[in-house]
Amino acid sequence: MSNRHKQNQDTQRLKRYLKENQSRFVKELCEYIRFPSVSAEGRNSRGVAACTKWLVAHCRNIGLDVQLHSTQGNPIVVARTPRKKDNQKPHYLVYGHYDVQPPAPLELWKSPPFEPRIRGTSLFGRGASDNKGQHFAHLKAVEAYLKTNSDLPCELTFIIEGEEEVGSPSLSGFLQRNAKLLKCDAVIISDTTLCDLRHPTLSYGLRGISGLEITLHGPSRDLHSGMFGGSIENPAMALCQLLSRLRDQHGRITIPGFYDDVLELSPFERMQFENQPFNLEDYKKELGVPELFGEKGFTPVEQRSARPTLEINGLTSGYQGAGGKTIIPSWAKAKLTMRLVPNQLPEKVQAMVVEHLKSVCPKTVRMEIKLEHGGEPYLLSPESDKVQLALESLRSTFGHEPVLAREGGSIPIVNDFKHILHADSLLLGLALPDDNAHSPNEKFNLEVFAKGMLLSADLWQRLAGSFVNANR
Ligand code: BES
Ligand code: MN
Repeated sequence: MSNRHKQNQDTQRLKRYLKENQSRFVKELCEYIRFPSVSAEGRNSRGVAACTKWLVAHCRNIGLDVQLHSTQGNPIVVARTPRKKDNQKPHYLVYGHYDVQPPAPLELWKSPPFEPRIRGTSLFGRGASDNKGQHFAHLKAVEAYLKTNSDLPCELTFIIEGEEEVGSPSLSGFLQRNAKLLKCDAVIISDTTLCDLRHPTLSYGLRGISGLEITLHGPSRDLHSGMFGGSIENPAMALCQLLSRLRDQHGRITIPGFYDDVLELSPFERMQFENQPFNLEDYKKELGVPELFGEKGFTPVEQRSARPTLEINGLTSGYQGAGGKTIIPSWAKAKLTMRLVPNQLPEKVQAMVVEHLKSVCPKTVRMEIKLEHGGEPYLLSPESDKVQLALESLRSTFGHEPVLAREGGSIPIVNDFKHILHADSLLLGLALPDDNAHSPNEKFNLEVFAKGMLLSADLWQRLAGSFVNANR
């Protein structure tokens, strides 16, 4: 039998397997989502242990060789396609994370976060989209290969970690210790977004991140605001004034040096961004905002994917309970993160921000700053061969011209894949922008899930260079 003939048969068989087993896959994904594997709750929470136990067993049933590596934090699941001796096939890593964001505020969920439900064409549950559903699509595609005895033209290693949402503190050490075993030709990651089903998306960039927590300490205890107010500083007010000066009315961050290392957008990129489907009115309506706000001189797509920002993520001070309480709070606290673009460095920006805050902090309060983990921005040449092959795969699977995008979110570990394993990451997102990642009522679109499995099945053929065009 000719190679091409055999491959066409394989392709048909794979597609049939994925189609026929679709409802079982959804049921299994529901099982996976039931585990409350929240990483923010600290090491090895009950949900994490049960989740990894299930995941390991599941990967074994698929036919993968699985190991569970314990770390100082949550364990890492490593699942490999069975290796044959002396094989010369290319090797790809598939990265995903089984940890999820905290589900709070619970009262805003229409169904409980860890009791997955299907409504319409979506599966609702915390982690459905970010990221359980997305890497599950790859697992199922590989299951199809293994269960139908189809020829997988490459070796695959799944790395599914449990600390992505808290900055992957354990994974880079693991990559360093296992660099030889994990040597690969590329890393495939589905943990970003696609514009919509008619605009499949390859992201060739991610923003980096840097964070800090600032506390202003005022009086040694909450004070009666009538007895003391007027004679001493209110730390909440001081903090608001301090924060309000970090950004001007044109959306520019006012910290000296903040834009020094920013890589400007090329005309090619600006053109690509123009091609992204974006409707201002829909966007405002969907997000429930009366008007948009962003850095002057840039389109909203540019602002959220290729320009740096400084955001207040949390602001706490004083009395939050029912009714009023007339006090001058003893302290005020803000959690800040900066989203960074190439070639900004997290430590450098963090130091700049700290320096600036110190220099403008009034003498009436004591400032305390806690530094948070960071991650570098990421940028891959959209012209590289692998990107082109992945684009072909998107085009063929979705039946639409794919979009080249840069993502505003961060996956700091991609830089470790680059520096430690010397591997590029191909970001093939399967989350829709309205999947409610990190929000109540997170959901995963089941049509995208189905496409994601087909994409994965197709991708290995093209990347490994063994794809034969059926129409030729
Ligand atoms: N899947 C996201 C990252 C993402 C989301 C990239 C949307 C692009 C588009 C990931 O799970 C995430 O939330 N990352 C964190 C990283 C942080 C905790 C270090 C983020 O971006 O806030
Ligand atoms: Mn996330």
